[in-house]
Amino acid sequence: MSDEERYAKFEVTAPRALPIAVVGGAGYVGSITAVGLAHLGHHVVGVDVNRERLAQLTEGIAPFHEPGLAALLGANLAAGRIRFTDALPEALAEAKVVFVAVNTPRRDNGEADLSHIIDVATGLGRHLQRYTVVAVKSTVPVGAHLTMRRVLEQFGRREGADYDLVANPEFLREGFAVHDFFYPDRVIIGGQSADAKALVRELFEPLAAPIIETTIENAQMTKYAANAFLAMRVSFINEIANICEGVGADIKDVVHGLGYDRRIGHDYLRPGIGFSGPCLPKDLEGLIRLAEDSGYEPFFLKSILEKNEHQRRHILGKVYGLLGTSLYGRRIGVLGLTFKQGTDDIRNSTAPEIVDYLVRRGAEVRTYDPMVGPDTAVAGRPAKSPYEAAAGADLLLLLTSWDEFRALDLERIRREMRLPNLVDGVNALDPAAMRRLGFTYVGVGRP
Ligand SMILES: NC(=O)c1ccc[n+]([C@@H]2O[C@H](COP(=O)([O-])OP(=O)(O)OC[C@H]3O[C@@H](n4cnc5c(N)ncnc54)[C@H](O)[C@@H]3O)[C@@H](O)[C@H]2O)c1
Repeated sequence: MSDEERYAKFEVTAPRALPIAVVGGAGYVGSITAVGLAHLGHHVVGVDVNRERLAQLTEGIAPFHEPGLAALLGANLAAGRIRFTDALPEALAEAKVVFVAVNTPRRDNGEADLSHIIDVATGLGRHLQRYTVVAVKSTVPVGAHLTMRRVLEQFGRREGADYDLVANPEFLREGFAVHDFFYPDRVIIGGQSADAKALVRELFEPLAAPIIETTIENAQMTKYAANAFLAMRVSFINEIANICEGVGADIKDVVHGLGYDRRIGHDYLRPGIGFSGPCLPKDLEGLIRLAEDSGYEPFFLKSILEKNEHQRRHILGKVYGLLGTSLYGRRIGVLGLTFKQGTDDIRNSTAPEIVDYLVRRGAEVRTYDPMVGPDTAVAGRPAKSPYEAAAGADLLLLLTSWDEFRALDLERIRREMRLPNLVDGVNALDPAAMRRLGFTYVGVGRP
C-alpha cells in the first residue's frame, strides 16, 4: 500500500466536523497537526506569526521537507477544510479546540524558553470569545500550564468557565511526521476536565491508537521521559561502541545480538556522532533543569548529556588520528549536515557544529547534504555533489546517514581525494569493502 492509500482511508472519518485552530500552525508540529485534523474532516485554521510560511502553506507548498505533507495539504486546501492566517482573534472566533504548537527553544541555561507559550496565552486571554479547549502540543516543563493559567487569569479568564487546558504532547518523528500523525504509537491527553479530555479524545479516536487520559503533569512528564530515554539509548550505545574499539569487538554485531532481546529492541541503537536536532538535547536539558528546580540532582541525566558532548570529541579524535594534530590547511570533505536522514532540518544539528570546529582549526572544508542548499548558514564551502566535496580532500567525514551516501560510486570518491582517509561518523559504510577500495577507513566501534 502506498502512503497516499494509507492516508486516504482516514479522509473525513471524524464522527462530526469541529472548528479547530492550530497556533504555530506553520511549524513542523503545527502544520502536520493542522493538515492531519483537516484530513480527518475538521475545519482547521492554522495560525502563525511567520507570514512567509503562511503564504507557502496557503499556496499548497510545504515549507520544509516532510514526505507526504504537500500532497495532503493540497488535497485539504482543495476540499476547503484548511486555511492559514496570522489573525488569532478571527481564528478563535470559531474554534472549539485550539492546539498550541509554538516553539519552546532552549534558553542559554538549558531551561525551556516559554516566551512563545506566554505570547499565545496572552493572545488567548485577550481574544477568547467563548468556552474553548486549549490543547498544548508544544513540549513544556511541568508547571508551564500553571504559567499559562496565570496569564489567562490576568485577563479575567477562569479555567473551567472560559477555557480548559489540556496537555497533548507530540511524539512525531521528522521525516515520518505525516505517517506518525495517522499511526501514532499512542495519544496522551492530560487535563483536569473530563469533558475537555473527551473532546480531544474524539479528535484522535479515528486513528485507532491507544489513548491515555491522565493528568497534565503526567502527560508533560511522559514526553520528557520519552525523549530522555531515547537520548539515553544513543549515549549508551555510543559508550558500548567506544569500548568495542578498545577491545577489538564490532558494535554492528553487538547491536544485532542486543536488539533481538525483546526487552531491548533494535531502535535508537545506532552508534555515531551522538544525538542532536531540535528536540532530544533541548528536552533532555529541559528535564535536567526541571529536576534541579524541583530539588533533585539528576546525575544520571547529566551523564547522558556529557557522554553526548564527549562523543563528538571522540569523532574529532579520529580525524586527528588520521591527519595529525594540526588541521591547518587540510582539506576535509563533509557529507551530511542534517541531524538525521529524511529531513532538511539542521536546527541544533551536530554536523554543522563539527564543520564550524574544523574551519576554526584552519581546515578547508567542503560540505554536501542532499537536503541543505548552498544558502544555508553553515561554515565551510558548499559543494554541488559528494564528489565535489571529496575532490582534493585529505579526509572525508560522514556525519549523516543518508541512504544516498551508501549508493555513491565510492571508487570515484577515492580517486577524487588527495589522501584516501575516510572517517565514517555514522557507520553508514562497510569497513571491509571500504578497505578493499583502498580507503583508510575508521568507523565507530568497528574494527
Ligand atoms: N519538530 C519535532 O520533531 C517535534 C516533535 C515533537 C514535539 N516537538 C515540540 O513541538 C513544539 C514545536 O516544535 P516545531 O519543531 O514544530 O517548531 P517550529 O519552530 O517548526 O514551529 C513553531 C511555530 O510557531 C510559530 N509561533 C511562534 N510564536 C507564535 C505565536 N505567538 N503565535 C503564533 N505562532 C507562533 C512559529 O512562527 C513557528 O512557525 C516544540 O515545543 C517542540 O519541542 C517538536
